Amino acid sequence: MTLTIKNLTKQYGEFTALKDFTYEFTAGVYGLLGPNGAGKSTLMNIITDNLKATKGEVKFDGVSTTEMGADFRKILGFMPQQQGIYPNFTLERFLYYMAALKGMKKAEAKADIDRLLRLVNLQDSTSKRLGGFSGGMKQRALIAQAMLGDPKVIILDEPTAGLDPKERIRIRNLIAEIAFEKIVIIATHVVSDIEFIAKEVLLLKKGEIIGSGKPHELCEKIGGKVFEIKANEESLAEISSKFKVGNISKDEKNIYVRVISEDPPAGYDFKSCKPDLEDLYLYYFD
Ligand SMILES: Nc1ncnc2c1ncn2[C@@H]1O[C@H](COP(=O)(O)OP(=O)(O)OP(=O)(O)O)[C@@H](O)[C@H]1O
Ligand SMILES: [Mg+2]
Repeated sequence: MTLTIKNLTKQYGEFTALKDFTYEFTAGVYGLLGPNGAGKSTLMNIITDNLKATKGEVKFDGVSTTEMGADFRKILGFMPQQQGIYPNFTLERFLYYMAALKGMKKAEAKADIDRLLRLVNLQDSTSKRLGGFSGGMKQRALIAQAMLGDPKVIILDEPTAGLDPKERIRIRNLIAEIAFEKIVIIATHVVSDIEFIAKEVLLLKKGEIIGSGKPHELCEKIGGKVFEIKANEESLAEISSKFKVGNISKDEKNIYVRVISEDPPAGYDFKSCKPDLEDLYLYYFD
């Protein structure tokens, strides 16, 4: 199973939101990482045929997805970033409605909906209206609809935005579980959402892929550029002005500042660190 994207480009007048995006996705979780405006939603909206590309193609197992049309929609699950939710629908009605749009039969939909409601922890809210849902509940309802009908390709645009830490972890684990034999693409700027579940990470900046690969491979690229400086209240401001600063932690005596730097921070009491995805994010996007 492959989703092949070739030279996908989106132009708004002179402005290029996505530039020659080319990638091949196979079964597994992919993290699409990039700051606001990088083009993540643009890419996802084009893949899901909610936006027309200026140029390029999307193919599933060698067939153009626009040619596949309804056949592609049947195997596709999508959670958009900006969602109009039907405030007067109860959760149950919403899910049956979405299932019907996907062409699912009622009995088939029932089993699936019951299962998904438990997975997203909304089994006790089936008869509540969506208009009365909290932000996090709406998110989970939308994740559930994206997973209806056991889709082969699941596109999630910032699925954990607005979730509390407990639900964030639950959804992350859920995504990892359901990813088996599926292509799952998750857009996020929250590194921890994908750090341990992504097979590959794509770094998107101003519409272009500036790096991609297995998380540890990407992190190796900035090996020798991450340090932890032992600092104090006085030196903190100076360090922040000189380096890209990551995590800051504290104990009774000292402040420990994680920094990204091409060269070791001479003149400071420091040690080298093993880079993680958050460092990578800061390195490329800060
Ligand atoms: N209809 C439009 N007309 C003009 N420019 C647009 C339009 N839609 C999006 N853009 C621009 O395209 C760029 C990419 O937007 P996109 O929504 O894909 O970013 P994103 O990576 O999803 O960002 P975020 O993290 O904020 O969701 C942005 O600079 C945005 O302003
Ligand atoms: Mg977006």
